[in-house]
Amino acid sequence: MQRAQVSFPAVDKAANPYTKKTETPSKSIAFCTGTITSRILAFAAGLFLVILTASQIHAHFAQKNLAEEFVGNQVGGVADTYFDGLNKLMLTGAMATRDELPLQIKQQPNVLEARVIRSDAVIGQYGPADAREMAADDLDRDALKGKETARIEETPQGRRLTLVRPFRASEKTRGVDCMGCHSVPTGTVLGAVRISYDLAPVDVRIRNAGLISLGIHGVLFFFGMALLILALRRTVAAPINRLTALMTRVEQESDLNLRIPVDGRDEIACAAHAFNTMMERFADIIRQVGGATHHLSQVASHLVMVTTRTQAGVDKQLVDTEQLVATLTQLAGSVQEVAHNNPGSGRRGPPSRQRCEGRDENLHLRPRRHLRHVRSTETGGKRHPASGYR
Ligand code: HEC
Repeated sequence: MQRAQVSFPAVDKAANPYTKKTETPSKSIAFCTGTITSRILAFAAGLFLVILTASQIHAHFAQKNLAEEFVGNQVGGVADTYFDGLNKLMLTGAMATRDELPLQIKQQPNVLEARVIRSDAVIGQYGPADAREMAADDLDRDALKGKETARIEETPQGRRLTLVRPFRASEKTRGVDCMGCHSVPTGTVLGAVRISYDLAPVDVRIRNAGLISLGIHGVLFFFGMALLILALRRTVAAPINRLTALMTRVEQESDLNLRIPVDGRDEIACAAHAFNTMMERFADIIRQVGGATHHLSQVASHLVMVTTRTQAGVDKQLVDTEQLVATLTQLAGSVQEVAHNNPGSGRRGPPSRQRCEGRDENLHLRPRRHLRHVRSTETGGKRHPASGYR
């Protein structure tokens, strides 16, 4: 925070061209209608919304994929459990009660369907099964060919995941030697377990989580925008408004002593600092101009004095000349008088001139010019003030 004050010679405001108002304050304020703050806020809001939308969409699909993978594993576990239960019945010879097994499995949450598909190999050895155990669609038939499929389908009740997992005969499929009872080559598909799993509850949870996340982001957005507004007002709008107000004051009051407090080292602080420096320079320039004007007026008054003195000298010289002229006129009169009284001596120039020379020293020094002038005075011609110099 600095507040340097610079004083400079008082300037006559009425005569100062800088005080001339070229623009009224209302005009300059009316010029500023948009604000930087609102522009930055609009940009930030747009950016935030774009990022939020992208992040929400990504989060939604990521959650969905994760849920599907998780549910897929879970359904695989259910299928294995179902088969383990069935295998236990085979081993204990209690296959007659196998209809209870799917009912138990279906009691697990979200399990819509649980059934076993019997392969031709088992049918060939143990005879056909009831209709539920026969292959019903392509998924079943693919599974009996050894292909495990997990398919998600849309139903009016929501999405559902169907997994059909084949079980092959081997020496230790799920820890049991199948060939002990089933007389088939190793790797033969003996059957498959089909489980349908309801994804609707998971989807609802994903959607709710998305909505909650959206709500949290929305609240954060409004808080963030409020904070941004406050921050921008504090760090951008207020300093710029202070700068503008001070510049307007300088313009209105023509006061070059006004300075802005410089706070921090950001761009606005730099602008304020530059403004202060500029004002100091202006004050310096005005001070120099004032000094130069003062010097000029001194020189002018000196010039006037010298001119006056010169005029006085000229006047004095004129007076002297007039006196000389008067003296010479008087002298000329005397000479004529003498000449008139002594007519004989009038023709002899040199002696009389010698006499005149003896009487007047000035006449000896500049005889002709002065005498010429004297004669013109005698003839009644109007004498010019400066004619003594011509
Ligand atoms: C102890 C003898 C025994 C062993 C070991 C055995 N099974 Fe079976 N399995 C049977 C009998 C018996 C049936 C059929 C009974 C019926 O149709 O009434 C059967 C039926 C099946 C079925 C059809 C079930 C249905 O409900 O249609 C499949 C599939 C099957 N076995 C797979 C296997 C596999 C895979 C293994 C090896 C992990 C295996 N079994 C091991 C005795 C056995």
